[in-house]
Amino acid sequence: MTQHENFTSISSTEILNQFNLKLSLFEDKKVWAVGGGKGGVGKSFLCANIAIELASLGSKVVAIDLDLGGANLHTCLGQKIPEHTLSDYFNKKVLNIKNIITPTNHENLSLISGAQDELGIANLKSSNKNDFLHDLKNLDADYIIFDLGAGTSLNTLDFFISADVGILATLPEPTSIENTYRFLKSCFFRKIQLSENYHKVSHLIKKISQGKITNISASPVEVMNEIKSIDESIYYELKLELDKMNYYLIMNQVRSFSEEKLGFSIEKICKKYFGFSVNYLGQVSYDPAVWQSIRVKKSLLQRYPNSNSASELKELVSKLYQKETM
Ligand SMILES: Nc1ncnc2c1ncn2[C@@H]1O[C@H](COP(=O)(O)OP(=O)(O)OP(=O)(O)O)[C@@H](O)[C@H]1O
Ligand SMILES: [Mg+2]
Repeated sequence: MTQHENFTSISSTEILNQFNLKLSLFEDKKVWAVGGGKGGVGKSFLCANIAIELASLGSKVVAIDLDLGGANLHTCLGQKIPEHTLSDYFNKKVLNIKNIITPTNHENLSLISGAQDELGIANLKSSNKNDFLHDLKNLDADYIIFDLGAGTSLNTLDFFISADVGILATLPEPTSIENTYRFLKSCFFRKIQLSENYHKVSHLIKKISQGKITNISASPVEVMNEIKSIDESIYYELKLELDKMNYYLIMNQVRSFSEEKLGFSIEKICKKYFGFSVNYLGQVSYDPAVWQSIRVKKSLLQRYPNSNSASELKELVSKLYQKETM
C-alpha cells in the first residue's frame, strides 16, 4: 500500500484510536515543529539554531530529531551521536524517554537524537507514535522542538499538525515553494482525516478525490465550501479545528530583496486557497557561515554568532517568542 492510498483507506475508528492527543493540552510546555515539504531546505539547521536561541533566552528546551529516515540534528547542534537514540526507545530497549535525553554543550538545551536504524522506524506504528507523544509530558522542558524529515509521510504530517506551532522552511525557488503548498494541502487533509467529524465527510472527500487524496485538484477552500453546501454544521465543526492550525513560514537562503518579499505572496495565497493563515516570519539570507559551521560540526550560533544569518535567526526567534507568548 502506498503512502497516498493509506490516506483514504483508513477507517474512522482507526483514526480516533490512533492519534487522539492534542499536544497543546500540555499546560506547562509548548511544542514547535520545523518542517516543510522539500529536502535540503535548511529544516535541521533552522531547528538547531532556533532551539539554541530559545535556550539562551532562558527557557528549558529539548530538541528532538524526528527525521525518521535521515537523522542529523546532532551535527547541526555540534554534538556527537549519543549512546541512546530514538531507535532504542522505539525498539523498547530503553523504556523511559528520559533515559534517551542527552545534554548538549549549550546551557538549558538537551537533545533526543534521531533513530539511526531505519528498519525499526519503517515499522513505527500509530501506537508507538501515541506513546511517544504522551511521554513528552514527562520531559522537563518549557519548549520541545521537533526537527522533521522531508516529504509528506503520515508520520511527518502527524508530528507537524500535532504541534502548537508549525514552522515551515522553504527556499525562494519554484520547486521548494510548490512543495510547501503540497505539504500544507496534505496537512489540511490529514487534519480533517484525524478529526472526530471525518466519518461524516469521508464519503465526500473520497468522491472528490476519486479514492486518492493526491487526485484532489480542488483547493482546501473549495473542499470546505463543498462541505458547507452539504452540511453547514459539519463545516463549522471542521473549521473550528482547522482554525487551530498555527503556522509560520521562514524563507531560507535568500539572496535578494525580491526573494525576501516572496514570503508575503505565499502568505496571501495561503489565505485565499487554503483558508488558514500561514504567517510569514521573515528570512534568513544565504550565508557561507551556515555551511562553514556545519562543515566543522558546530552550530551557526556557536561558531559564527555575529554573522548576518545568526542575527536574522535571533530576530526571527524573538519575533516568534513574542507572538506566541502574548
Ligand atoms: N541560510 C543558509 N545559507 C547557506 N547554506 C545553507 C543555509 N541554510 C542551509 N544551508 C545549507 O543547506 C544544507 C542543508 O540544510 P539542512 O540539512 O538543514 O536541510 P534539511 O531541510 O534539514 O534537509 P533534509 O530534508 O535532508 O533533512 C546545510 O548543510 C547547509 O550547508
Ligand atoms: Mg534535516
